[in-house]
Amino acid sequence: MASRFADVKLGPPIEVFAVNKACVDDPHPDKINMTVGAYRDDEGKPWVLPVVRKTERAMADDCTLNHEYLPVLGLEAFSSAATGMLLGPDHPAVAEGRAFGVQTLSGTGALRVGAEFLTRQLKYSTFYMSNPSWGNHKLVFLNAGFAECREYRYWDAAGRTVDFAGLLEDLRAAPENAVVILHACAHNPTGCDPSREQWEQIADVMKEKKLFPFFDSAYQGFASGDLDKDAWAVRYFAGRGFEFVCAQSFAKNFGLYNERVGNLTMVLNDKQLVPQVKSQVTLIVRGMYSNPPNHGGRIVATVLNNPQLFEEWKECIRTMANRILAMRKGLRQRLQALGTPGGWDHIETQIGMFSYTGLTPRQVEHLVGHYHVYLLKSGRVSMCGVTPHNIDYLAKAIHETVLLLPD
Ligand code: LMR
Repeated sequence: MASRFADVKLGPPIEVFAVNKACVDDPHPDKINMTVGAYRDDEGKPWVLPVVRKTERAMADDCTLNHEYLPVLGLEAFSSAATGMLLGPDHPAVAEGRAFGVQTLSGTGALRVGAEFLTRQLKYSTFYMSNPSWGNHKLVFLNAGFAECREYRYWDAAGRTVDFAGLLEDLRAAPENAVVILHACAHNPTGCDPSREQWEQIADVMKEKKLFPFFDSAYQGFASGDLDKDAWAVRYFAGRGFEFVCAQSFAKNFGLYNERVGNLTMVLNDKQLVPQVKSQVTLIVRGMYSNPPNHGGRIVATVLNNPQLFEEWKECIRTMANRILAMRKGLRQRLQALGTPGGWDHIETQIGMFSYTGLTPRQVEHLVGHYHVYLLKSGRVSMCGVTPHNIDYLAKAIHETVLLLPD
């Protein structure tokens, strides 16, 4: 019988999840999973932060909590704490009531709600993302109604660093009112951030060309272990008087990947406009998923609003950041000790979950096929997959692969 679905074409797989599944399904005892950006402890296991467990236990015993709907814009205690964490609680935009947050379905949901607001209400139609960028930015922004996706140069493959001249040149050539996606810290996939001086120049160009900043902040605290340091660029733009939006994810820094906890911070320069803007965001959320879930948002709100739990959480993010930093250093040292051809300093100087190794597609294929070391075709590795138990095997696998297949 003919089907109404007969013309549906098979879509492409989502690379990061497809490669992750291939690794999970691989029975090889030495396999290493460096695919999805999700924290693992020294034993290679997912980590529920102790402060999260503690908060969940208290929530389970709290009979005043129930499962009623949250408001469309979410839990106020969560969104205001998240916005305060991003901008700093004493930031003038917060104190003056010009900045507010909206609880969303993780960072992706914040990107989607923010992007849809910008197309519907501000009539923006072109967005820029870095080349390369997180694999989902394009899909989210196009699905939100943007007509045109453009890229600004970001990666200097030879120098294994930011192609800053290319970046500035591309932003200078952008049309007025283009929306520019900026990674607040720990750029995914390269692990390379602009320096503070470079951020200042980016801000200069964006002011001059009237470009609209859309920050994506997925690693605050996780990148360096320091919440303030990781929010520097966003706060700098706020201080320069930009109006902007920022998608915040609590997946990595709270380990709440599947709870979908996010916040969209909106910074306006006129407090009087906040009610109108909120009312339009309300309609977007209502028409998309009606209202957000409670559990993860309440955990984050409880921790951020309780000084003792907040300190415990900061200790957790330092633990995660330091483990990653130690693995970066260890891998860099091993590759250099083995005399692996090429420079490997970038493994240590890059920041956050990911390293853009510079490994070529052929080398990646060999690492997967021969050594059961799983990473993305682009050469991106999640450093979370490296542990004290597999780091020697990994270094040897990279070393032998680079020797066998020089490019
Ligand atoms: C990643 O980049 O691996 C993570 O942010 C997971 C994802 O959704 O892509």
